[in-house]
Amino acid sequence: MRQQLIHILLLAGALGASAAEIKSPSGEFTLNVGTDGSGRAVYSLSYKGKTVVTDSRLGLKADEADFSDGFTITGTRTSSADETWQPVWGEYAEIRDRYNELAVDLRGGSQDLEMTLRFRLSDDGLGFRYELPLQDNANYLTLRDELTEFNFTGDHTMWCIPGDYDTDEYLWAETTFTGLPEALAGYGRHSEAQRTGGTVIQTPMLLKTDTPVYVNIHEAALVGYPAMLLDVDTAKRSMRAHLVPDRHGVRAYLQLPFQTPWRTLIVSDDARDILASQMILNLNEPCRIEDTSWIKPMKFVGVWWEMFTGTQKTWAYSDDYRAKPGVTDYSTLTPNGRHPANTANVKRYIDFAAAHGIDGVLVEGWNEGWEDWCSYRKNRQFLFDKPYPDFDLEHLRDYAASKGVKMIMHHETAANAADYERQLDRAFQFMKENNYDAVKTGYVGAIIPRSEHHTSQWMVDHANHVIDRAADYRIMIDSHEAPRPTGLCRTYPNWLAQESARGGEFESMGGNPPSHTCILPFTRLKGGPMDYTPGLFETRLSTYGEGKTGQAMTTLARQLALYLTMPSPMQMACDLPENYERFADAFRFIEDVPVDWKDTRYLEAEPARYITVARQDKHSDDWYLGAITDETPRATTVRLDFLPEGVKYEATIYEDAPGANWKDNPQAYRIRKVKVDSRSRLKLSLASGGGTAVSIKRIKQPGSVK
Ligand code: NOJ
Ligand code: CA
Repeated sequence: MRQQLIHILLLAGALGASAAEIKSPSGEFTLNVGTDGSGRAVYSLSYKGKTVVTDSRLGLKADEADFSDGFTITGTRTSSADETWQPVWGEYAEIRDRYNELAVDLRGGSQDLEMTLRFRLSDDGLGFRYELPLQDNANYLTLRDELTEFNFTGDHTMWCIPGDYDTDEYLWAETTFTGLPEALAGYGRHSEAQRTGGTVIQTPMLLKTDTPVYVNIHEAALVGYPAMLLDVDTAKRSMRAHLVPDRHGVRAYLQLPFQTPWRTLIVSDDARDILASQMILNLNEPCRIEDTSWIKPMKFVGVWWEMFTGTQKTWAYSDDYRAKPGVTDYSTLTPNGRHPANTANVKRYIDFAAAHGIDGVLVEGWNEGWEDWCSYRKNRQFLFDKPYPDFDLEHLRDYAASKGVKMIMHHETAANAADYERQLDRAFQFMKENNYDAVKTGYVGAIIPRSEHHTSQWMVDHANHVIDRAADYRIMIDSHEAPRPTGLCRTYPNWLAQESARGGEFESMGGNPPSHTCILPFTRLKGGPMDYTPGLFETRLSTYGEGKTGQAMTTLARQLALYLTMPSPMQMACDLPENYERFADAFRFIEDVPVDWKDTRYLEAEPARYITVARQDKHSDDWYLGAITDETPRATTVRLDFLPEGVKYEATIYEDAPGANWKDNPQAYRIRKVKVDSRSRLKLSLASGGGTAVSIKRIKQPGSVK
């Protein structure tokens, strides 16, 4: 009997090995799904006739049920779709979602379990997920492991950051499977990568084969589940899902029916296609918000960079909180005189925004609780409806309104997420009462509740709860230190931006090499826009005062180009008003540049080296172009054949001046104007750490009404 059973299983395995095959709509991709001799689900993917992912295992393991082996395929279903949808904001006014789908039903395991594997194959690559239906033998799962593998064929080049349960604010390593442990040595002392000798990395990450074929690995629609890291087997050229656990080793508590996030592979032999792909958005659910008229892309300035420079300014109003533990009446504290979130200074930013057509002003350090905010003693320190004594909230509210400027709220929680949930409704009500429609949130430090990590299931649920509640209040969110985005901004377009990577703030803490912003669009940005905070005009930190040395690794012109290469519907101009006044002609580009697009054309791209992109304004005929390079100067010529034929435009080119470079001559730029049309070519010359930004505005004909 046992012999017979094994025979049947082997037979099923052998038959199942090629149980199902589908192709992408273009025919370039082929996906195979089957079971191996032990009844384990296996998939493989090829592109243009070459294997990209070799046989790779799938499965889940919970305390209550094992979905990893002993399965047979009971049925397969195929379908296809070709739809076009309109995002509320983004890089394109319309997004096409065309794919062939394969659903593979499996039955077996130790308890006669059921599971469906759903694969979507588009012309950009593959998304797949596990679907666990409601079933008799296991309905509550304590998930211990996801066995998803991504097995590759060679010692590919890879760009990645170390696996870490709590932060993604790292520079990118450029390495290979073989070189990975060495490349990650010395990164983040508390990271998983460090603990395991450099074999755990995060997604999104990018691979490049010899051919070359580029492969972005990430996930889509992270809901009710922890974020995915990847365990790398450097010898086998293999990666395997590593779900972020809580501190007790549980990866997720699931109630069936449940579907996991999609595991995604964006694949192309043209690096520009990786940037252009909207596959992760496509795999997310449509917009859940019925009336989206209140969701408004915006540019903003803020009381922010002052706290990062050598001026020793603080978020805190006072220095003597430690001397008076338990103080509740802030008016009894002595002001430290270094608190820029004060009424007079904030008015300066409002005036600047009003004068330059900038939509909003963010103010950090406006509320009680910043004294001792990062300490391990923290419990309930931030109050989200209590302004400091020197921040006249009502006056500033009315003043900003009179100038047509929106105030942007700040909720630093110091990672006390539990207390933030308790205060959430009051905090959002307080915002609405005072005319705030957008908030930047933050989770610096160890998470409360203490058993959680920044990207564990509980925190994923928290972030999704906050965005859902915010939608109820018609509030837009820019979250910092939240789980890395996975395209949920399609479902919740009030999630305008996230940090979730090493942002511009690090220019004051060691710097970001120019290659950093040449790799982020290939990796982190595939999940959604980043609040990178571009627009730094004064790059030498010592010019601000004592306390900081060093300089940002960028030319001024490059900072303008970042508005195109790091697209976000919530885009900061991070520098101080006085620095913008000094370079008013260059700031003109930031005034002009839109943050929402009708169309996008990636003209040139190579990961970590260079990106050139042109985008058309969502609300006019005008185009904008941005080009950046790494530390290697770059000369290139781009065709403007994306312009409509026969229409005349004026291009204003903001570029590195001869002799400019990020180190010795970062502020050498020049601005020139030329008339162009679809047959024109533009010669671009980018300095080391440099860039070019171009506005291409339609010349209005005399008598034209437009
Ligand atoms: C870290 C954030 O990334 C930064 O933008 C913010 O200013 C500080 N936390 C304080 O909330
Ligand atoms: Ca941060």
